Amino acid sequence: MTSYEQSDRLKRIPPYLYVRLKPIFDEKRAMGWDMIDFGIGDPDLPAPDCIVEEIRKQVAVTANQKYSTSAGERDLRVAVAEWYGRRFGVDIDPDTQVCITIGSKEAVFHIAQAFVDRGETIIVPSPGYPVYSGASVAFNEADCVLVPLKAEDGWLLDLDECPKGARMLYLNYPNNPTGATCDLEYLRRVQDWCRENGTIMCYDNAYSEMCYDGYRSPSALQAGPDCIELGSFSKTFNMTGFRLGYAVGHPDLVAGLRKCKGQIDSGAPIFIQKAGIRALELYGDDGGLPEVLAGNMEVYAERRRVLVEGLRELGYDVVMPKGTFYVWFDCGEPSFDFTRKMANLGIIVTPGSGFGESADGYIRMTVTEPVERIRIALERMRRGSYQ
Ligand SMILES: Cc1ncc(COP(=O)(O)O)c(C=O)c1O
Repeated sequence: MTSYEQSDRLKRIPPYLYVRLKPIFDEKRAMGWDMIDFGIGDPDLPAPDCIVEEIRKQVAVTANQKYSTSAGERDLRVAVAEWYGRRFGVDIDPDTQVCITIGSKEAVFHIAQAFVDRGETIIVPSPGYPVYSGASVAFNEADCVLVPLKAEDGWLLDLDECPKGARMLYLNYPNNPTGATCDLEYLRRVQDWCRENGTIMCYDNAYSEMCYDGYRSPSALQAGPDCIELGSFSKTFNMTGFRLGYAVGHPDLVAGLRKCKGQIDSGAPIFIQKAGIRALELYGDDGGLPEVLAGNMEVYAERRRVLVEGLRELGYDVVMPKGTFYVWFDCGEPSFDFTRKMANLGIIVTPGSGFGESADGYIRMTVTEPVERIRIALERMRRGSYQ
């Protein structure tokens, strides 16, 4: 059989985090071990029934079985714009300021394709969602500048450490992997800085609805129109596999993203987009979190409490996060060593170093296991053995 070399561009990207870790966990599973999984950020809770029901209904309509457009169905764009009004109090034009995406991951990649040329600089917070650096470095041949986030700054990007003249900046709060959150004042400062320095602000608000203890995540668009914000149905509605998201913001940035997508995809399936409209209808006029989502957040909040308190009892210094479903802490040794040790206890965690070398020594645990299993995991850690 002939062998085929990958492009130099592709060879520069390290394998995706979970590809590197899978063999370690697979080995234990092959031994019949019950692995308690705090790894990937994929909700274990189901999508609300009314959304699933809507898909069933919509997929049967012949018109919904055709190509959509890369800008997305207009009725969903209108629903997203109205949701921005209710949730964040900002006016959005559905015709020029919204693009429906196939999840926010593709938008992270395509926005860079649309606006960054070879050799230009992209600022990427580290640790951060690995696609920011993967998308920018490899496929754009851009110069990716990793700016370390620090615990003492509450994991907020320090603008004084960012290079001036960069073409684009990725920013994400509530944050993966640290669970850190920010306020509107901070987003105003970032947007002002970007405006002054000619940098495009790409704000990834994928976890905007995953908040605790009365905290509600702001939108970068509340800080002003000079940005593009990415949002997602994935974590809000437990719809990761449905692949549906939205990009909202400055008309020039939305136009570029649409043009880029126009060459690559034909939009998310129409019947999924129709279900997206049903999902946003769950929100009332005041933009408050709908009951069904508030119920989900109560489940995550209890798991988060049990895990954080349990880890603290074991001697780890853990912050109770105000957003996301991640718990992030200093494990006191190289992240990969700790991950391996945890695998030997039948526990799957994610090494912080996978999100950026500067986070070596940190661990991310996702609260996608029920409380009883979290307690079993903590007991295994206390005992120092699987059984
Ligand atoms: C920060 C961040 N952005 C974007 C995504 C992508 O989400 P999706 O493509 O499912 O919308 C993720 C997924 O984990 C994420 O953590």
